[in-house]
Order: sequence, then structure tokens, then C-alpha cells
Amino acid sequence: MSAVYVHEKAGKDVPEAGSEAEPFATAAYALFTKGDDIKILTYKETEEEKGYVDITQSALKKAKKGAEGLKKKAEKAAKQPEPAAKKATDAPDIKFTEDKSLPEAKSIKLGKIAENIDQRVTVRGWIHRLRVQKGLIFLTLRDGTGFLQVVFTGDLAKAKQSQELTIESTLMVKGTINKLPEGKTAPGGVELKADYYEVVALAPSGDDAFTNKVAEGADPSYLLDMRHLTLRGDQLSAVMKVRAALLRAVRKFYYEESLTEVTPPCMVQTQVEGGSTLFKMDYYGEEAYLTQSSQLYLETCLPALGDVYCVQESFRAEKSHTRRHLSEYTHIEAELAFISFEDLLSHLEKLLTKVVQYTLEDPVAGPLIKELNPNFKAPQMPFKRMEYIDALDWLNEHGIPNEDGEKFKFGDDIAEAAERKMTDTIGEPILLTRFPVEIKSFYMPKCKDDPRVTESVDVLMPNVGEITGGSMRTWDLDQLLAAFKREGLDTEAYYWFLDLRKYGSCPHGGYGLGTERILAWLCDRFTVRDCSLYPRFTGRCKP
Ligand code: 4AD
Repeated sequence: MSAVYVHEKAGKDVPEAGSEAEPFATAAYALFTKGDDIKILTYKETEEEKGYVDITQSALKKAKKGAEGLKKKAEKAAKQPEPAAKKATDAPDIKFTEDKSLPEAKSIKLGKIAENIDQRVTVRGWIHRLRVQKGLIFLTLRDGTGFLQVVFTGDLAKAKQSQELTIESTLMVKGTINKLPEGKTAPGGVELKADYYEVVALAPSGDDAFTNKVAEGADPSYLLDMRHLTLRGDQLSAVMKVRAALLRAVRKFYYEESLTEVTPPCMVQTQVEGGSTLFKMDYYGEEAYLTQSSQLYLETCLPALGDVYCVQESFRAEKSHTRRHLSEYTHIEAELAFISFEDLLSHLEKLLTKVVQYTLEDPVAGPLIKELNPNFKAPQMPFKRMEYIDALDWLNEHGIPNEDGEKFKFGDDIAEAAERKMTDTIGEPILLTRFPVEIKSFYMPKCKDDPRVTESVDVLMPNVGEITGGSMRTWDLDQLLAAFKREGLDTEAYYWFLDLRKYGSCPHGGYGLGTERILAWLCDRFTVRDCSLYPRFTGRCKP
């Protein structure tokens, strides 16, 4: 069994690679080119070790799946008729010009085709699908606002230039939009009969063709390296469109509720959610961090602007390699003045119900969510409410153990796996409230009727678990100073935050929503990585 080296960062997936000096980039490609009878050594760099180690069983399993995908792709490519580029050499070199006697073509985006039936139009976009026949070419054009089937006939189809077209080339096409006869299908039930077109830019063919670059089923890590190209796929682009509609819906809701949007800084010198997940940086010689949450800044805005919100990136140096943790995520946070804990819970229910309703009503996002998640049930008010202490009983009754494999006891963190099992079994949104002081952040006030627990809430959704975390805030200066002491936090850097408790303090509360987690729930994605444009997590900061 020969040893084959894989180095995710320094390697290259080319047939001649595989040696220690010139490793492969992915184990999937190694198996694909060398076969199963190899010993794969992958490069690992952690604080404790650095160098090549045996591939883990789970990575090997994943790589085998990836290799299968690459094999299928190669077989498919081999079966395909000769590439158009080769055939095209015999195609006639016809030059076509636009017929100026035709009615003037109106320039439109593909989202507007329904309003332009029987009209002559100009469209521009990327070739999403392509079927080249001898006297006929069908292609699906994509421009981000929609898809359109385009047909080339006659000289337009026969010409060498057309026979050489490739997926992902960009075109400008003029022609008439026709309704398709019964029984024929194409996006929107229409097609564009082209009378003239120009190639804006031709994408490569052969080995370098787009479909060879981003083969479906390829190694996930390789596909993430190719994120700039995989983004063009149906599913990822659909999630990004739902994301845009979701953020629009969030802003609409906040506008209706009279919250003002602000943009707090990302570079800060205070922590909010514990020191262990802080990204530290050198800020002109001073220690600073990337923000974990804009909450403290939102609190400063209450006396100036009233209720406020932000849609801002938060950063967490998460050690956990889970499907719902990112190192950078889009955090929707809000802060509300003069509210009670009960007001906060009602506000959260209303926010989530309305935001989902608006997103489903969106003409673009609504149908996409139906495609991505046909069984999605919009949440209904009121949400189920459950106290932490009752959740422990529920978990113990259902035989779900804590992280040490034992029965849950007061003070235990309900970790991701247990939380998800509970949420999935209950199968509806849950407002989980009143967590113990020791497992929650320094700013959370104790409940008056039970000082062991805090006025805190997590919103749990089936399939994802926690999508929102919120609480009331300690607004009394002495109590807050006591909390700083308890947590061993130095008050100096927080002088501005403490001032809020001196100059017109008031009862207030707020929360943060993980945009990618809501999307994973709405669009039924396995991981939040599929809901971020360019996901960042342990070991990944590219492209
Ligand atoms: O529960 P968290 O840590 O709460 C806060 O940061 C509060 N200061 C927010 C506030 O009250 N203004 O985070 C809030 C939400 C979580 O419920 C989760 O949805 C998301 O942020 N989140 C993450 N999403 C992706 N990757 C991570 N590493 C995340 N950490 C938190």
C-alpha cells in the first residue's frame, strides 16, 4: 500500500501529485486518481501537533463519497458526445448581423419577462444550461432575477461561434418572447426566439469547463474553495435570495415597531459573551477584539434614539466544529427600553412570526422556501414556553443525558445535542427561559422570585435548536458592579457601559438572532455554512 500525501492548503489536485513534496489538495481526488489501495496521510496543524497523520475514518468515508462523485462525473463526461468545441471546427464560420428592420428591442431583466410577452427584447446573462444540436440550440439564460429559455435556429444555431458556446459564458441576446404551447415546459412557461446575439465573454471548455471545476458531490472542502463558483448553483443562490428577503422582512418589522437602525463598531475593547471566544487583535499597539455582540453598544443608544436594532457581523473564535457554529455570522440584535421580561417574550414571538410571514409572502423568497423546504410550517403564536428547570425534568424523563453521560442536574449547560433532541421531539418553537446565573452572561439580572436563575430566554426551533438568545439587563449600578466582580471582569474598559446605569437608567432588555441559523431552519439546510455567503469557521478564511 503506497503512502499518498494530502495537504488541504498547499496541495494540488492534479494527476501527478501525491508525494510529500507535491501533495494532493483533497483525499477525494487522491482516491479518485490512485484507487482505494493507498494509505492516505493528511496534513494537520494544531497547537499540539504539526505534520502528516493517518486520515480519520470519518474523513476517509467522506473522501470515498467525494471520489465516487468525481468518478461519476468522469464517466458522464466520457459518455457525452464529442465536445461542442471539437465538432465546431467543422461548423460554418457564419457572421450574423442584426436585422435593423425589426422593431426596436427593449432592454429588460429576466425577472420582467412575464410583462413582455410577444415583445422584442434585449436580455443579458450567463448560460446556465446548454443543449447544442445541429440545427437548434436551447439554452437557459440566468441573470440573478430569473431564468429564460432561449432558442437559436437557422444560421444562429449553425454558426461555429454558437456551436462553440459553453456553460457560464455571458451573452447579449435579442429576440421575441413567446408563450410556450401546452405540454412544453420552460421557466415561466415562455421562451425567447432569438434573432440576434453577441457573446460578451466565452467561458472555457474541455478540462477547464465550469462543470468540471465544480462537480456535484466533490469533496466539501474543495467545493468551499470554489465557493465563488458554487454560489451560482440553484440551491446556494436560492438560499442567498431567501437571506436577502429575510433581512428585508426584519427591517420591515422593526420599522413597523418604531425601532431605529444603528451600525455599531466591529473593533472593540470589551467582551460580551465570555473571553474564551474572543478574536484578539493588535490595534495600533493596544489590545482590541472583533465584536462578539453589539449589545452593549445598542444599550448606549436607548437614551439617545429609543428602541434600536442592528444587523452586524459578530465574531466568535469557536473551538466547536459543529454544524451551527461559524467564526463570523450576521447578528440581528435589538434593544428595547422600559420593558418587562414578559414584554420581551411577547416581542420575540411577534418578531419571529411576522418576519417568517413577510419572508413567505415575498414573491421571490416564498416559492424558493417551498422548493427548499416543502414541509416548512410557519410558527404560530403563542409559542410553547418552558423553564430551564422543567427542561431538565423533560430531558431526564426522556433518557437524554448531559455532556458527562449522566442525568441532568441544576446548573448543567444543555448542550447542542441534547437541546436539539428535545426541540426536535417537541417539534415546535420553544421559548426556553430562566437559565441559572452560572451558565449565563454577567449582564443578566436574577429573577426576583428565584435568585438562582436569570431573566433570560433562548428561542429553540426544530432541526436547528437555538436561533435566538436574549435577556433583560441588570440596570442597577450596584448589582451590575457585583456581577462584574463575580465574573472577574475589569470595570475600567466598561466605564461607558457603567455610565448608562448612572445617567437615566431604566429597565430594558434585548436579544440577538443568528441570521444563518434562522435560514438553516427556514430553508432546511444541514449546516449554517450553507446559509453564509463565504462561511468562516475553524481553519477556513478563504476565498
Ligand atoms: O446567545 P448569544 O451568544 O447572545 C448574545 O450574543 C447576546 N449578547 C445577544 C443580545 O442579547 N443582543 O448569541 C445570540 C445568537 C444565538 O442565539 C445564535 O443564533 C447566534 O447568535 N450565534 C451564532 N450563530 C452562528 N455561529 C456562532 N458561533 C454563533 N454564536 C451565536
